[in-house]
Amino acid sequence: MTVKKAIIPAAGLGTRMLPATKTIPKEMLPIADRPSIQYIVEEAIAAGIEDILIITNRSKAALEDYFDYHPELEERLARAGRDADVKLVRSTADMANISFVRQKETKGLGHAVWTARHFVGNEPFAVLLGDDVITGERPVIGQLKEIADREDAPVVGVQAVSLDAIGRYCSLDVEKVADRVFSVRDLIEKPKPHEVYSPYAILGRYVLTPDIFPILENLSPGYGGEIQLTDALAKLASQRQMLAVEFEGRRFDTGSLEGYLECVIELSLRNPRCGSWLAEYLKNRAKTL
Ligand code: UTP
Repeated sequence: MTVKKAIIPAAGLGTRMLPATKTIPKEMLPIADRPSIQYIVEEAIAAGIEDILIITNRSKAALEDYFDYHPELEERLARAGRDADVKLVRSTADMANISFVRQKETKGLGHAVWTARHFVGNEPFAVLLGDDVITGERPVIGQLKEIADREDAPVVGVQAVSLDAIGRYCSLDVEKVADRVFSVRDLIEKPKPHEVYSPYAILGRYVLTPDIFPILENLSPGYGGEIQLTDALAKLASQRQMLAVEFEGRRFDTGSLEGYLECVIELSLRNPRCGSWLAEYLKNRAKTL
């Protein structure tokens, strides 16, 4: 299978980052010099994805504006001779074919994915969660695409998390089939300690096939009263081969305060605009802690 489309669910309410996210979408919070959503779009593009659909809601129009032109600002910058800044401002509108759809009710991630069905049509597609920034040598969604292309099967991106943390994720029942590749037998969302299958949890990246849509359409609400993508994946895994890839990369949960701050520090240290300044600042600051 060849994956050319990606969806980015970004319609969650972001209640873990209040009060900042009362009016600013969490995907627009800056990580160094750009909003976190831009890193996710860049990951998809680096993996050869051509068309991207971002799933938003009525309070996230800032996302649409960010990937559009801004004629007034561009004109002002051009008049001031700031040509590099004109290019910078326009670049986010030209980076990919990006479109938007609104999830009209916050009914869960599974429901958000279902709202993308018309965009996806009958093709395999990538899913990159809007609040998981993942860095690595190779784009993580590309690592999943590679296996999906080769094995012609849906693939989820996993890493082992601590047993203390697994209750906040989903847990996968897996069997190893190759280096870093597993066959998925079952999954459970937010397991209680006695329900944990393994430390492997899905961390924000998927390559799915359109047969997930009829499953989502008929799914009853699960954990938290929401339509859970995990429940649909469990059903899919019972019907066809599904694989998990233990991806190489570092994942930041930018929807939590700690994950967001770690991400800001790590990616700012790597940013040529502010990296060496920040390293120096942190070294000096650490002496006084
Ligand atoms: P999260 O549970 O991490 O995000 O959803 P949230 O609901 O915004 O977070 P909190 O817990 O209130 O802080 C995982 C992903 O699913 C998307 C979110 O935007 C995030 O990318 N999502 C969740 C939707 O798009 N729609 C929903 O109805 C729920």
